[in-house]
Order: sequence, then structure tokens, then C-alpha cells
Amino acid sequence: MDTVIGSLRRVVCASLLCACLGACIGVSPEQRLAKDLGPDTGGHQTGPLHRAGFPCTDCHGPLWWQDHPTFELAGTVYQSPTDDAGQRGAHVIIQDANGQTVTAVTNSVGNFFVVTSGGNFRGSSEGSLVVPAGFKFPLRVSVKTGSVEQKMRSLIWRETSCANCHAKKLGAGSNGRVFAMESTP
Ligand code: HEC
Ligand code: HEC
Repeated sequence: MDTVIGSLRRVVCASLLCACLGACIGVSPEQRLAKDLGPDTGGHQTGPLHRAGFPCTDCHGPLWWQDHPTFELAGTVYQSPTDDAGQRGAHVIIQDANGQTVTAVTNSVGNFFVVTSGGNFRGSSEGSLVVPAGFKFPLRVSVKTGSVEQKMRSLIWRETSCANCHAKKLGAGSNGRVFAMESTP
């Protein structure tokens, strides 16, 4: 009897150990975060068109995926707050605390991202804006489509992903998506 229990215990221990190893060693913090964010439903390969609407800098930030580009600021502009279609060609105007003003232009899925010229971003792609140095926070931003400019009244003090305050679902931490506005004739 003792030996049966003993071997049972060994089996249980072994399988617990396996589960633990799988969970602890197989998954890095960034992989866990990526998993928590859920799947990319946009159907694009990794690159400038992937993960529209996601908080880009949660992954492309200074802490993780060091061998991939660090974004100074990034986000997605939509055609409307409820539709999943991104707005191409929207101007995201960014003014930093030094008074430097730059404009990023969104790509075909509405994504834009800002990288520094000294960083490790190798490609130059639609939606990217290369600036000589990182921004001095706080930032003032506005979005211009056609002749209509919508200013965000508050300042961005620290957060580098628009999506972390502008999720599709409205709530305490979300002001709804950033979307383009048509000019009214
Ligand atoms: C869940 C994590 C995650 C999120 C969120 C995410 N990315 Fe990525 N992204 C990655 C990873 C990982 C790679 C590199 C993939 C590879 O090398 O195969 C990558 C690659 C890229 C690249 C190519 C980089 C290069 O060196 O050529 C661009 C551009 C990019 N992402 C833009 C974005 C934008 C814009 C957003 C937000 C709209 C975003 N990503 C959101 C994880 C993420
Ligand atoms: C720290 C949270 C936060 C971040 C980060 C943030 N926003 Fe906002 N945004 C808000 C809040 C809150 C409002 C509504 C009040 C206001 O205008 O300040 C707003 C409003 C706006 C508006 C005006 C919308 C309207 O209906 O008039 C635009 C445009 C906008 N944000 C664009 C952006 C863009 C682009 C980014 C990323 C570069 C961004 N925001 C990042 C919190 C944030």
C-alpha cells in the first residue's frame, strides 16, 4: 500500500512539476502580456499594419522586446468610434514640452508610430514618423482629417499608447476610440 501511494505521489509530483515548468519557463512576462491582450483580429502580419487598436507601446516600449523598435508614441485612428475601419491619412499632430511640433500620418489601418532616428527601427514604413530625439512630456495632441482638427484638451503626461485611454469600449479608463471627423459643409 505504502509503495502504491508513494508512486502515486511521485506521479502527481512529476505532473505538477511539468505544469509548473510549462507555465513558468515557457512564458516570459511580455508573452504573458501579449496573451492577455488577446489575439490580433486584423489579419495582418507583424509590422506596421498589425494589432490596430492595441496599446502598441505595451509591447514596443522600453522594457520588452529590446531587439525590436521602441516607440515614443503610437496609436490608431478610426473612421468612427464603433466601426473597425481605420482612417488612412489622418494627421496626428504632437507638440512636446520643448515646443517641438511634429505630425505623424496614419497608414491604411489607421496606425501610426513614432521612433527616434538613433533607435533600432530599421525599416521605414507607412505610418512611421522618425524624430531626432524622444519627446519631452507632457504632450499636447490633436488629430486632423481634411480641414477638421480635433484637439485633445488634456495633456498626455506619461502614457505612450493612445489605446490605453482610448479603447473601443467606453469606461472609467477609456474615452472611446480616437476617430476622424468629416468636415461639415
Ligand atoms: C502584443 C504585443 C504587440 C503589440 C500590442 C503590438 N506589437 Fe508590433 N510587434 C510585436 C512583435 C513581437 C513584433 C516583432 C515580430 C517579429 O519579429 O516577427 C512586432 C513588430 C512590429 C513592427 C515591425 C518592426 C520592425 O523592426 O520592422 C512594427 C512596425 C509594429 N510591430 C508596429 C506596431 C503598431 C503600430 C502597434 C499598435 C497599433 C503594434 N505594433 C502593437 C508585438 C506587438
Ligand atoms: C492618459 C490618457 C490619454 C491618452 C494617453 C490619450 N488620450 Fe486622447 N483623450 C483623453 C481624454 C480623457 C479625452 C477627453 C477630454 C479631452 O479632450 O482632454 C481625450 C480626447 C482626445 C481627443 C478629442 C476627442 C473629441 O471628441 O474631441 C482626441 C482627438 C484625442 N484624445 C487623441 C489622442 C491621441 C491621438 C492620442 C495618442 C497620441 C491620445 N489621445 C492619447 C485621454 C487620453
